[in-house]
Amino acid sequence: MRTDTGQIVYLADYRPTDFVLERVDLTFELDPTETKVEARLIFRRREGTDPTLPLVLDGDELNLAGLLLDQAEIPASQYTATPESLTIANVPASVPFEVTITTIINPEANTQLMGLYRTGGIYCTQCEAEGFRRITYFPDRPDVLAPYTVNIIADKAANPLLLSNGNFLGGAGYGEGKHFAAWFDPHPKPSYLFALVAGDLGAVEDTFTTMSGRDVALKIYVEHGKEPRAAYAMDALKRSMKWDEEAFGREYDLDIFMIVAVSDFNMGAMENKGLNVFNDKYVLADPETATDADYANIEAIIAHEYFHNWTGNRITCRDWFQLCLKEGLTVYRDHEFSADQRSRPVKRIAEVRHLKSEQFPEDAGPLAHPVRPTKYREINNFYTTTVYEKGSEVTRMIATLLGRELFKKGMDLYFERHDGDAATVEDFVKCFEDASGRDLGQFSLWYHQAGTPLVTASGAYDATAQTFTLSLEQMVPATPEQSSKEPMHIPLRLALLAEDGSIVTPQSVTGAEFTGDVLHLTDRSQTAVFDGISSRPVLSLNRSFSTPINLHFSQGTADLALIARHETDHFARWQALNDLALPNLMQAARDAREGKAVSCDPAFVGALLAAAGDESLEPAFRAQALNLPSESDIARELGSNNDPDAIHAGRQAILGEIALAGKDVFTSLYDGMRTSGTFSPDAASAGRRALRNAALTFLTLLDNAPARAKVAFDAADNMTDLSHSLALLVHRHPDSAETAAALAAFRERFAENALVVDKWFAIQAGTPGADTLERVRKLMGSPLFNRTNPNRMRSLIGSFAFGNPTGFNRADGAGYHFLADEILDIDQRNPQLAARLLTSMRSWRSLEKGRADHAHAALRKIAGADKLSTDVRDIVERMLKE
Ligand code: TRP
Ligand code: ZN
Repeated sequence: MRTDTGQIVYLADYRPTDFVLERVDLTFELDPTETKVEARLIFRRREGTDPTLPLVLDGDELNLAGLLLDQAEIPASQYTATPESLTIANVPASVPFEVTITTIINPEANTQLMGLYRTGGIYCTQCEAEGFRRITYFPDRPDVLAPYTVNIIADKAANPLLLSNGNFLGGAGYGEGKHFAAWFDPHPKPSYLFALVAGDLGAVEDTFTTMSGRDVALKIYVEHGKEPRAAYAMDALKRSMKWDEEAFGREYDLDIFMIVAVSDFNMGAMENKGLNVFNDKYVLADPETATDADYANIEAIIAHEYFHNWTGNRITCRDWFQLCLKEGLTVYRDHEFSADQRSRPVKRIAEVRHLKSEQFPEDAGPLAHPVRPTKYREINNFYTTTVYEKGSEVTRMIATLLGRELFKKGMDLYFERHDGDAATVEDFVKCFEDASGRDLGQFSLWYHQAGTPLVTASGAYDATAQTFTLSLEQMVPATPEQSSKEPMHIPLRLALLAEDGSIVTPQSVTGAEFTGDVLHLTDRSQTAVFDGISSRPVLSLNRSFSTPINLHFSQGTADLALIARHETDHFARWQALNDLALPNLMQAARDAREGKAVSCDPAFVGALLAAAGDESLEPAFRAQALNLPSESDIARELGSNNDPDAIHAGRQAILGEIALAGKDVFTSLYDGMRTSGTFSPDAASAGRRALRNAALTFLTLLDNAPARAKVAFDAADNMTDLSHSLALLVHRHPDSAETAAALAAFRERFAENALVVDKWFAIQAGTPGADTLERVRKLMGSPLFNRTNPNRMRSLIGSFAFGNPTGFNRADGAGYHFLADEILDIDQRNPQLAARLLTSMRSWRSLEKGRADHAHAALRKIAGADKLSTDVRDIVERMLKE
């Protein structure tokens, strides 16, 4: 492990490299413990740079085994090599020159999963963000682009497959049981997009004909025997390729597109040019082993990585501060893809739930940072939900501000103007300004100001004047190192609804720009007057969640119920049901804490059950409505001094009341929403399963015994139903014989399937209550537990820390100390994984004092360790900062 140097990187310090890289030629002689890498790099000094400056290259834990300058040895006095850098003096001032570097690396010992490593017997690389420097000395930054030639030499029997980026040039025997392959990627790329895979894998093959009529070979490589489980991923890939042509006019640009699924991976997947590498969790699926959520994730991530080919690869980032340029935009593109493939409102609901449960807490806590940060200590820690999801929301707002046509014009201009560039956020925004003529200066604050804006709204109807007056105020909360904020440009979609739910169109609007259904809030406070309104309207505000804000707008139950019943924007209907639910859940938490009886507003229950039983609504929508705000959602809304036990108890009491009142509705949904015939993962079938399972969840709340959940478990013929019923058994009746039997049967049946075993661990880690820590400890002793596999660690420790509020936050603080000890251990092997698991404690300051004190002590224990990675040191110090 490279220990922390305390060095901070600033955007303000950006300057281009002194040397331009013209070509990269790599030769790998693969060996599990001693891989030889020869890199031939052709440089030329950038015009106008000081001719005496040395060439400085990045390294990370490297050993220099050979160095030539223009094919000749150079004296030791001419260069300095450390594990972190290689500096060569007296390189030519005005002609191109060639540097040949040999390094010997040990893939087997690479437990960080950055650079070249081994997983499941194959060789694989991960270079984003700074992994390439663990392979060879290199100008390892995204604004250094070059075409790559890659030669791979390896034992033929163990590695029949030798893959890298670009197009296949050829291969042949190499003697001594070895063979070699050569690849050439003509598209200049930064080092973070380099990839190499070698080993023995099975392939699923297909072809795609692009819009200009070129045939592209498609290959998905998986472990032998798992080929049938890659069929859905292949289907998703072809749909993604087609969609990018239709929606964005983007065509694929090589002869071959490959995906490799690996079982040890730090993140979801990686968009290496022409050779995507995936966490196998996001490739492999069949009805017996994958849930509907798994299928949806596979579709979205396959699309995401494919879309990076244009937004990320053809146009890349100038520096890592611009990460949202590729990630925010590409998430926006994959969201739009999924919306087109599935149900747009249901997709939007899922996105907003995710944004609020992940990004809003990040933005409200010690790790808050702008979508486009200006400094970092460890770039790996900036692959955040703020950069990704809020970055996507910012792109969505540009589309909202400009409208469909001008947004498309701006995107086309971006592709045309910046193809082949390493670009910036400013370049991107400029394209939309030029395409539309609109000034996006104030809007750009969304990239630069952290924190979720709070908008406070109030409405007043004047029957005599026939006007509706909407007063709006905005406030952006202080965040680390940003104490005062400027007012933002906030695009609020809205509708005024009449008594019957129809939309009332005002004769005119003064006080704010209003185009289409978008009201532009640009001042700190603003009053918009809608004229020609003949009766008191019901305001539906922030339709389709047009802007990622917290909204304070106290709206009566009747108004919310009207929106829930009549809005044509189904997202807004869901939001209204959510707004009806939240005050009940928050009050229930307060009451439970004070030992008072919990009660629930019947108007809310009525509106919820009406939606649940409304056959004109999509089942998936109804399932989302029944899936009430989570315990973490309630904690977030309460804001401070939180007691997770009280939140849990209050929420359970409310759920119980709804179950009682809705028994008939739920019974008929459970019977009526069966899917018949062969399994299909399509969105409509998934929606029926989701609604049926939501109904089952309520029905089991009426049970004292596990019988009903057990029946569902025994009858399940797909993983969605099976894992749902298992979770009901484990979470409701953790100590029953039925649960023990179900867990054993599940384990027995799927012991050979790592992705399903992950579910077995995750479900148990999610069991509410203080005892779960002991359960987790015991599970760590299971022969199925595997400390070196990130998916397994996330499924047990991650599910416990992120997904089990009462278990993890048990009052004696033992959960925090358990996590702290684990973090210190994991950090020795895989700092990225350790740092990410640690972010589960980012909201520790909003806990009640007793728990917060325990959390504080656990964090101080981590910070006090003498050997910490930069990754963990960066996170823990930001979390502790006053
Ligand atoms: N660029 C990847 C994506 O599409 C993210 C990623 C994959 C990554 N592996 C990584 C980032 C390892 C940092 C480290 O979202
Ligand atoms: Zn991405």
